[in-house]
Formats: sequence, C-alpha cells, structure tokens
Amino acid sequence: MNNLLDKQQLSGEEAVERTLRPQYFREYIGQDKVKEQLEIFIKAAKLRDEALDHVLLFGPPGLGKTTMAAVIANELGVNLKQTSGPVIEKPGDLVAILNDLEPGDVLFIDEIHRMPMVVEEVLYSAMEDFYVDIMIGQGENSRAVHLELPPFTLIGATTRAGMLSNPLRARFGISGHMEYYALEDLTEIVERTADIFEADITHEAAQQLARRSRGTPRIANRLLKRVRDFAQIMGDGQIDDQVTDKALTMLDVDQEGLDYVDQKILRTMIEVYRGGPVGLGTLAVNIAEERETVEDMYEPYLIQQGFIIRTKSGRVATQKAYEHLGYPYPQT
Ligand code: ADE
Repeated sequence: MNNLLDKQQLSGEEAVERTLRPQYFREYIGQDKVKEQLEIFIKAAKLRDEALDHVLLFGPPGLGKTTMAAVIANELGVNLKQTSGPVIEKPGDLVAILNDLEPGDVLFIDEIHRMPMVVEEVLYSAMEDFYVDIMIGQGENSRAVHLELPPFTLIGATTRAGMLSNPLRARFGISGHMEYYALEDLTEIVERTADIFEADITHEAAQQLARRSRGTPRIANRLLKRVRDFAQIMGDGQIDDQVTDKALTMLDVDQEGLDYVDQKILRTMIEVYRGGPVGLGTLAVNIAEERETVEDMYEPYLIQQGFIIRTKSGRVATQKAYEHLGYPYPQT
C-alpha cells in the first residue's frame, strides 16, 4: 500500500527540489488570486473546526500545484497524503488510502483526470458524504461493506479543465486556476532558490532566467542549476547576465525561452503545413512527441505568448512565430 503513496525515498535531485518548496503562503511567491481565496477559506474552516472543502487545481505542469497542496495542508495543520490518478488502478487501492486518513487530513491526487472510471465512482460518495460502499471477496463469498470515513479534504490537480467528468468536477467546492508566473514573481523565485543554493547571482541574470523559463518555476529552478554549473566551470562562479546567456544558448533555450521542442513545433507548422491550420494529433506525430505532451506542456505557453492560435480547423502559426524564427510571413 505504501507504494501508492509517494512516500518512497527521494532521489538526490527530488530531495533538493523538496527543500526548495515553500511550506506556507507567506513563502509562496505568485499565484496571488489562488492564494488570496484559499487563505480565507482555510481560516474559515479552521474557525469552524471543519475539514476544508475539496479543492481542484488547474494548470500546466510545473506551476506549483503539488507545492500548493502541501502549503494548504501545512496551513491547516494536518497531514498530507499524496498519490496520483494513474497509480490508483482499482477501487481497493483508493479505499486503502482513504481508510488511512485522519480527520481533517488532505489527500492530494495529482493528474486526477487519469483515474480509472471505476475508481472515480468510489470517490463520489467519499467526497460528498464521507463513506464508501465496496464489495469484498469473490463470487459466492463476496459481500458489500459500508465504510465510514473521517471528514477530509481532497485536492485534485489536473492540467486541463476539460478533462474532468462533470460528476467529479461538481464535487469540488473550491477551484483555483494556476497561471504562468509574471516576470517579477519568477525573478523573485530564482533569487530565492539561488539564496538557498548559496549561489551568487546578479539581479539582471535572475531576470534573464525568469524571462527565458516559460513562466514556470520548475523550469527556472532547473535552468538555474545548469547556469550555476556553467558559471562555476567556465567562470569565477558568479552568475551574471553574460554567463547566463551563454549557458542558456548552449542549452537550446532561445531569447523568448522557447526550447528545442517549442521551436520544432513552430518550424514544423511553418515548413510542413505552411503555417496551418494543422490538427494537434498530426503535429504531434510529425515531431515524434505524445499528443498529450504537446497539448499539456508546450501548446499552452505558445498560445499564451501568441505564437500559435487555435481555430476550428486546427492550430495556426502567427506572424510572431514566423518573425521569431526568421521566416518571411506570407502576405495573403
Ligand atoms: N519555488 C518554486 N515555486 C515557488 C513559489 N511559487 N514560491 C516560492 N518558491 C518557489
């Protein structure tokens, strides 16, 4: 059962990332709208000594949904149990997790849209009325068991709003949309991380890292580590604007923060499909990536930054995409 909960030993990189994570709202930079609402609902729940209503967090990968769940649990002063949709294969797996909860605990289910339907159905009564009815045993020996659960808070995370079934979505009382981080917030995060690493970084370099990290703390923190390596080996250890630019260029991160895959997506649209419209599935096959990866990780940022637009007949590369990659924009 323990393998269902993310309690396994962390690898070195993950362990570092874990210590980087803010523990309370006061340390959590950005996502002000989500934070503001949650702080009120958490205070009210604590005042009434009730479990917080269930929370659904939407947003692209790397924006801090897991961190937010941990912060919520800390602010509530309860345990956090963590799992993910694809890991819960059978209703029994979910029941084992639910049965382990203490009153008020937070259960975080990442990628909740990838939970099997038979598991999702067990979740309905658990969320709404804190019980599950399950069948135990096989054939003639099987019997129905009614299991009461303690009041708990489910926090579900999903990359896209449209992926959740209506009955599941309806059972969340609170929802928060995680946004790409503003430049100032991401700069502050980079400076905070550098501080934890005891790395010497200039403000300009932190700003550049923020600008070239697709609005995503996970990317910013990863690039910071690589830039720090670069500064240490190729320079005197100080992370300045120049060394940052050299390192990011070497890592195929361009001036707009687009990486190799982003660029490949845009190039393929322009060179193979004359800018589109092209279907997402077709595009994914062409660049040898999973459709889901393109849809969840790459497309949202390209759309947000105005490199791609979505039309009824498919995705279209914009003039900005042509100009950014140095192609002439066809005038017709
Ligand atoms: N590290 C990663 N994301 C963060 C955030 N939102 N606030 C503070 N530190 C972070």
